[in-house]
Amino acid sequence: MTIRILFFSVSGNTRAFVKKLQAYGEVQRTLSQEMPLIELKEITDQSHFEDEAEPFVAFVPTYLDGGNGLDNGTTEIMTNTLGEYIEYHANRSMCLGVVGSGNKNFNWQYCLTAKQYAEKFNFPFLADYELRGTPTDVETIYGILQDLVKKYA
Ligand SMILES: Cc1cc2nc3c(=O)[nH]c(=O)nc-3n(C[C@H](O)[C@H](O)[C@H](O)COP(=O)(O)O)c2cc1C
Repeated sequence: MTIRILFFSVSGNTRAFVKKLQAYGEVQRTLSQEMPLIELKEITDQSHFEDEAEPFVAFVPTYLDGGNGLDNGTTEIMTNTLGEYIEYHANRSMCLGVVGSGNKNFNWQYCLTAKQYAEKFNFPFLADYELRGTPTDVETIYGILQDLVKKYA
């Protein structure tokens, strides 16, 4: 069993977190063949858009125009290519949900992009973590993804 993750990362935090998830999955697999490995695909502004043939989970950090927890900025900036990728052809139908990240200093705008994706694309907001995440976040989110892919295996 494999969990496929498509992610976007501007300053490297999301990349670092999904790599930790992948490393955690490798350790889990050595303990039990039933534990899923994690496959990563980074979407960037240079990505060639492809048709996704297998289910995946999207990971997106939050960058908003005017987002400082005080102003009303709710417009996604920087990460838009991931949303466009999900919208491309039938890719949306392969997306099982989204995991958001951000910084709690942004108050109600914390992880807003992932919440907006969940609403716009009508898939679940699965989990959130701050910045590069903690070891507990890795464990928790791996568990959530494991339960999710089991349903689709
Ligand atoms: C200009 C800027 C705007 C940001 N806006 C938000 C925001 O509105 N809400 C939030 O939760 N985090 C916000 N963040 C925090 C980032 O989402 C957080 O640092 C995240 O871990 C970045 O992921 P990345 O390194 O993979 O790009 C912002 C960060 C920057 C630099």
